[in-house]
Amino acid sequence: MTNRPLTHPAHPPAALPPPCPPSPPGQPPLPRTPVLCLQGITKRFGAVEALLDVSVQVHEGEVVGLVGDNAAGKSTLAKVIAGALQPDTGLIELGGEPVQIGSPSSAHALGIATVFQDLALCENLDVTANLFLGRELKRSGLMHDGQMEAHTRSVLHDLRANIPSIHTPLNQLSAGQRQAVAIARTLIGRPRLVVLDEPTSSLSVAQTAEVLTHIERLRDLGLGVIFISHNLTDVRAVADRIEVLRHGQNNGTFGPDAAQSDLIGAITGATRFGGLGG
Ligand SMILES: Nc1ncnc2c1ncn2[C@@H]1O[C@H](COP(=O)(O)OP(=O)(O)OP(=O)(O)O)[C@@H](O)[C@H]1O
Ligand SMILES: [Mg+2]
Repeated sequence: MTNRPLTHPAHPPAALPPPCPPSPPGQPPLPRTPVLCLQGITKRFGAVEALLDVSVQVHEGEVVGLVGDNAAGKSTLAKVIAGALQPDTGLIELGGEPVQIGSPSSAHALGIATVFQDLALCENLDVTANLFLGRELKRSGLMHDGQMEAHTRSVLHDLRANIPSIHTPLNQLSAGQRQAVAIARTLIGRPRLVVLDEPTSSLSVAQTAEVLTHIERLRDLGLGVIFISHNLTDVRAVADRIEVLRHGQNNGTFGPDAAQSDLIGAITGATRFGGLGG
């Protein structure tokens, strides 16, 4: 396998992408408008084409697994959705409406929550403080601790998260529990879409199982979820659909029961797919 990105000489300006289709390629039309539809997303860093004409859809109550080798463009796509990076070209629709996600705060306002690979939590603060970091609830100018604590208990319960106490500092929690806190933090903003970038990459088997349960809970709560991972077993366990990125491009849409060899072939480039496999 190679970690080298695909590079090309300068390209002519891309034509505007077509509007979002009613369903992912190769699948029967879905009755619902996707929560998120990305169409023709391209993002270059100098000569590196991190994303080239990428299209992805996510529906309410659906977990889309986004897989691909190192440097396939997964985190770049997460950052575009999170408003941390601006695409060079492409169309983004939320609930059928074209939007520009100009910043992380716009993404938050639009109901998009992202947990990045590095989690970005504060080790010395407790669970509640981490959930409300930068969005503290106040009453008469003072912290409204009671309401924040009640809300923290409620979202941890919604996720079925196993956290000993909401007053525990993060540095006393396991890696799996920290991931649960990061996922619980997404629920504070009442999102409609949650993007999780490699949430299971550094976890034990038991911790991974817990995080997969949290992902299922997000789906049960009706959210659209993008679950980015290298681990096909984890993705198959919870994804309703699997999208493969290779060298910044779509390289196949699969059902969770797709043959392992087909998925690996799409990830490594042994095969090129256009539609739904498996
Ligand atoms: N800020 C940046 N500046 C320049 N190049 C970048 C930047 N961010 C990403 N890239 C490049 O874009 C390509 C895609 O990177 P990205 O992080 O999206 O891959 P990934 O699929 O998330 O990989 P991994 O599985 O290792 O996390 C890589 O070649 C990477 O070096
Ligand atoms: Mg990444």
